[in-house]
Amino acid sequence: MIFVNFKTYEQGSGRRAVDLSKILQEVAVDSNVKIVPVVQVIDAETIIDSTILDVWIQHVDPISYGAHTGWVLPEEATRVGVKGVFLNHSEHKFEDFSALIKANARCHEVGLKTLIFAEDLDELQKLLPLKPNFISYEPPELVGSEEESVATAKPEVIKDAFNFTNQVNIPLIVGAGIKSVADVEKSLEYGALGIAVSSAIVKSNEPKEKLLELIEGFE
Ligand code: G3P
Repeated sequence: MIFVNFKTYEQGSGRRAVDLSKILQEVAVDSNVKIVPVVQVIDAETIIDSTILDVWIQHVDPISYGAHTGWVLPEEATRVGVKGVFLNHSEHKFEDFSALIKANARCHEVGLKTLIFAEDLDELQKLLPLKPNFISYEPPELVGSEEESVATAKPEVIKDAFNFTNQVNIPLIVGAGIKSVADVEKSLEYGALGIAVSSAIVKSNEPKEKLLELIEGFE
């Protein structure tokens, strides 16, 4: 399973986000590997209308209908067809843990799946009782790294993370600097169900070729 985080890269915005989603779909259909585009809120509805893939967004807020200017409402994500949500990404963390708990609960109330990010094992253990659909271990210092990856720099932590998530049957996703077949193979070997990747795909001049390369790690 591959979550491709479009972030707010220019290559993952607007028309280019739609085109990138089509590439993800082609590769997902040919390979039978589940690929999830994780897109900007503003692009979500257009992309949902143009793909058969499940489309996720990168954040929602712990609110219900009301006066919340500029926040992202879980109900409306569901209404336009969003299937799931990233929460607590290192680039968009909640101010306090109670807000994260509420956002996760609100998502589940309205039928959205959740993937919650942990930046270390301490944070990961606190997430287990929240029962998100996925937990991702993603060390922030390796996000976007061109030299290292979570798989090369933190293999033991992936194993430990899996030991925790496996006890409560929550699938583990790992991310940060994933860019090679070996990164994918090692991540899966250490217990991850899948990967979260961004720059290696979204910023690539040849995203399809790069994705096909990473897919080899699942074969
Ligand atoms: O959500 C995954 C993302 O933060 C990983 O980014 O650029 O290290 O693949 P990147």
